[in-house]
Amino acid sequence: MSNADETGAPTHGVGPWAGEWPDGEQYDPELLRDGDTRNVIDRYRYWRMDKIIADLDTRRHGFHVAIENWQHDMNIGSIVRSANAFLADTVHIVGRRRWNRRGAMVTDRYQHVVHHPDVASFRAWCDAEGVPIIAVDNVGDAVPVDRAELPERCVFLFGQEGPGLSEEALAAASSHIEITQYGSTRSINASAAGAVVMYEWCRRWA
Ligand SMILES: C[S@@+](CC[C@H](N)C(=O)[O-])C[C@H]1O[C@@H](n2cnc3c(N)ncnc32)[C@H](O)[C@@H]1O
Repeated sequence: MSNADETGAPTHGVGPWAGEWPDGEQYDPELLRDGDTRNVIDRYRYWRMDKIIADLDTRRHGFHVAIENWQHDMNIGSIVRSANAFLADTVHIVGRRRWNRRGAMVTDRYQHVVHHPDVASFRAWCDAEGVPIIAVDNVGDAVPVDRAELPERCVFLFGQEGPGLSEEALAAASSHIEITQYGSTRSINASAAGAVVMYEWCRRWA
C-alpha cells in the first residue's frame, strides 16, 4: 500500500478492509480491497468520492469564498483546502480560469468551484443570488472581523499576495473586514487570512 496520495503527499490512511465487507452503496470496492490512503476524515473512509460530495452537499454552510486570480497565486489552493475543511458552500475564482491547484491537495474535488472571468460577472452572480460580498483586506475602512457583522449567507472575497484586492473588487463589496495585526508586517498570508475568517464564521454559525 502506498504512503503517498495522488499529489505525492504523505498520508496515514487505512489498509484493506478486514473481515466481511460492509453493506452500502457508499462503499467503493477498490478502496475496500486495496485500502484508503486519501486525505479524508474517518467518517468517509472507503466511501466513493461522489457519495462523499453528496453527503457534504446535505450540510454545506451558508458562506462562500471568492478569490481574485490575476497572477496564479499559490495561496489559492490553500484557501480551497480551508474552504473544504470549513464546509463552504462554493469557492469562486474571479479572473483567470486556471489556478494553482497544488496547495489544495486534491480537496478541490470535493468542493464546488465556480469561475467568473471578471469582477463584474462575479458581482452579477452575487446580486442575482442575493449573496452580499464581504471584502477581506486590511484597507482603510475595514472593520475587525471579531467585531464585524457576518451574515449567515455571504461571500468572503480575498485578494492576492502583493496587490491585495483590486479597487474594482473593493468597490463591489457591501462591507470590508480585516484581521487585526500587532507586529511590523503589512499583512498575513492570504490563505492564513482565509482560515481565520472562515473559522470566525463557523464559530458564530456552525
Ligand atoms: C498579502 S495581502 C496583500 C495586500 C495588503 N492590503 C497590503 O497592504 O499589503 C493578500 C491578501 O491576504 C488577505 N489578508 C492578509 N492580511 C490580512 C489582514 N490582516 N486582514 C484581512 N485580510 C488580510 C487579503 O485578502 C489580502 O488581499
